[in-house]
Amino acid sequence: KHIESGSVTWDSPSNIALVKYWGKKENQIPANPSISFTLSGCKTTTTVSFSKKESYQEYAFDVFLDGDLKESFKPKIETFFNRINNYLPFLKNYYFKIDTVNTFPHSSGIASSASGMSALALCLMSIEKMLNPDITEEYFNKKSSFLARLGSGSACRSIEGDLVVWGLHNKIKDSSDLFGIKYPYKVHENFKNYQDAILLVDKGEKQVSSSVGHGLMHNHPFAEQRFEQAHHNLSSLIDVLKVGDLEAFINIVESEALTLHAMMMTSMPYFILMKPNTLEIINKIWAFRKETGSKICFTLDAGANVHVLYPEVECEQVVEFIKNELVAHCQNGQYICDQIGFGAKKI
Ligand code: PMV
Repeated sequence: KHIESGSVTWDSPSNIALVKYWGKKENQIPANPSISFTLSGCKTTTTVSFSKKESYQEYAFDVFLDGDLKESFKPKIETFFNRINNYLPFLKNYYFKIDTVNTFPHSSGIASSASGMSALALCLMSIEKMLNPDITEEYFNKKSSFLARLGSGSACRSIEGDLVVWGLHNKIKDSSDLFGIKYPYKVHENFKNYQDAILLVDKGEKQVSSSVGHGLMHNHPFAEQRFEQAHHNLSSLIDVLKVGDLEAFINIVESEALTLHAMMMTSMPYFILMKPNTLEIINKIWAFRKETGSKICFTLDAGANVHVLYPEVECEQVVEFIKNELVAHCQNGQYICDQIGFGAKKI
């Protein structure tokens, strides 16, 4: 189909991994499978407006964040376009205006790459669908996730919800290294509307970019054991999710977070990405759990911020606990209460 110009908007959420992706091969192929909760409130809204152009030699686009032109975002998007050009042959035929807004503060230390790259991938797929209206919904979702992966690995887990698996795993039917899939098995009521409070501990510039971080897993002394462990933890999680075993869930999720950081502490060069306040928060979570029997637990990404995960029934007591004890350890007292979500939406 021939189209001169148009515009499309997608909302796409962030996600938080339970079993972590850390280490990759060529072409954004993960070294191990991962699984994440899709978030709800933490999301990016991206509008792509496109118009046919004269010259087909190069990409033509501008990126705006909160209405401001962002020259600094261009190289990352250029790299993304280069990676996906073979799969979306129309990229050089149009000029694109990319307008993006996040619900969470920029450079808050909350990864905007998952929500941002998935939102952009979805907008581009919508244009692809305008040009090829026969594309099915299943193909659309798969290819969006496939493209998002080429923008930022974890972004491929943001298209759908509420639980997404990315990476080949022998017990998870249809799992693939190329795209994320909706978790295919039964999940116990205990995990319904699971909550995630994100405590902003450090908004500073990232010490290590995630691409450098993944690179540190090459020749890492513990890499093979780590990749095996991720397979094993994902296997265990299948049962845990089915029977609703919150204790076992806590053990897997917290161990995964600490292992991710242990990998960074034991690579060469080595990094400590936690801050004193990260540890204060972890210790307080452990003490609270011991005192109250709460099923609260923590997880971490490649940074100092803490994600506090807990069942919906504990909302009131946990929010009280956060306000009374944890907020003091957050930068400017900042935290975001979010919960499991159901994936991206076309606006
Ligand atoms: O998507 P990337 O390349 O930014 O990698 C992110 C990796 C972690 O957030 C640390 C873990 C994960 O599985 O999301």
